[in-house]
Amino acid sequence: MRTPVDDYLADVLTRCRDNTDGALADYIPELACVDPSLLAAAVCMADGTIYAAGDVDHRFTIQSMSKPFVYALALRDLGEREVAARVGVEPSGDAFNQLSLGRDGRPRNPMINAGAIAVHSLIGGPDASDAERSRRILDGISAFAGRRLDVDDAVFESEFETSFRNRGIANMLRSVGVITQEPRDVVREYTRQCAIRVSVRDLAVMAVTLAMGGVNPRTRERVVPAWVCRQVLSVMMTCGMYDAAGDWMTSVGIPAKSGVSGGVLGALPGHVGLAAFSPKVDDHGHSVRGVRIFERLSRDLSLHLMEVQEARVRILQSSGEVELRDGTARHVQLRGALYFGSVERLLRELDDIPPGDALVVDLTEVAHINPIGRRMLLDAMARLGEGRRLVLVDPSGRLRNPRETGLDLDVVRKIADEQ
Ligand code: DON
Repeated sequence: MRTPVDDYLADVLTRCRDNTDGALADYIPELACVDPSLLAAAVCMADGTIYAAGDVDHRFTIQSMSKPFVYALALRDLGEREVAARVGVEPSGDAFNQLSLGRDGRPRNPMINAGAIAVHSLIGGPDASDAERSRRILDGISAFAGRRLDVDDAVFESEFETSFRNRGIANMLRSVGVITQEPRDVVREYTRQCAIRVSVRDLAVMAVTLAMGGVNPRTRERVVPAWVCRQVLSVMMTCGMYDAAGDWMTSVGIPAKSGVSGGVLGALPGHVGLAAFSPKVDDHGHSVRGVRIFERLSRDLSLHLMEVQEARVRILQSSGEVELRDGTARHVQLRGALYFGSVERLLRELDDIPPGDALVVDLTEVAHINPIGRRMLLDAMARLGEGRRLVLVDPSGRLRNPRETGLDLDVVRKIADEQ
């Protein structure tokens, strides 16, 4: 069944279809044979619901969009310190395929080829065989996508045969000890990593898994810990779009990664995963139509990271009186997400409630609460509960153990239980 969101996405594609700028990434000969008119977009929500439009089932190679996920796998398996010993987190301001190293002898970040080749070489540890490294990467990226992915052998062979530049980068990395294996073998398996095939739906699911702290909302598998996602999204935000990162931050404002096959994926923390595909790319290696699609989505749906902060501070209705078995109480119904900013405002509103009034604090419509939001709300409940009857309605158990407040608190599953 088509939904208004599918129709909206189809409309976004229609508006971008006329743009025929850019060129196929023919430095990989097989990519010069792709149909340049292909066009698709997908969105995956926090609960795993997918909306998509255009050539949604077309498969293309993941290319540099593999980089954040392999970085995530390396962080998960080796820890932050060991990965940081081999690759930095500073934007390079250079093109993705620059033969560059920072002054400290490490590649500047894991999103450019030099950093990505270094990160690739870490997977499975120094003793892992080439096959083992590749298998772990395919397994890991498949877990992000929530289905078994495969490799496009034609694109892999075509790129590997002509991968002189990446071999130059790998030789440079070997000469300074950033990689320890034979450079040609590392480039071959890195090239295989880049030739994993995905659709826009896969990319949107992979992106939302990063956005949701590492749990794939469709399979419910925890792929990586939350701290890894924070690290990866931070590096995507600053380095994911290479030497166009500043333009991207200002115009789109979503942590993102592109690939020369024409895909772009974006992950808005706690919110949504997005993907676009169209094969013609600009001088930075970003899909021309893909960038336009993201600009529209960001603007139309208010997804810019610097806007969303404010939108989160939507809290509550202080909604009148409620009848309890033994009298009436003030009904404070919270709505939205409870973070530092939103709870701080809520606490000031709660301070205005006259002392002594019985109070029902109702969390039924709270979508999300983070640890500091929970702590602050519990403290507020402790204060509010002094000298009055306090009922907490918390059907999803968001406050987990509200008796931490030390109060003799009535906790009810549904407000009906109390009426
Ligand atoms: O290593 C390469 O050159 C390609 N396999 C990937 C480059 C890429 O996707 C750049 N991003 N937009």
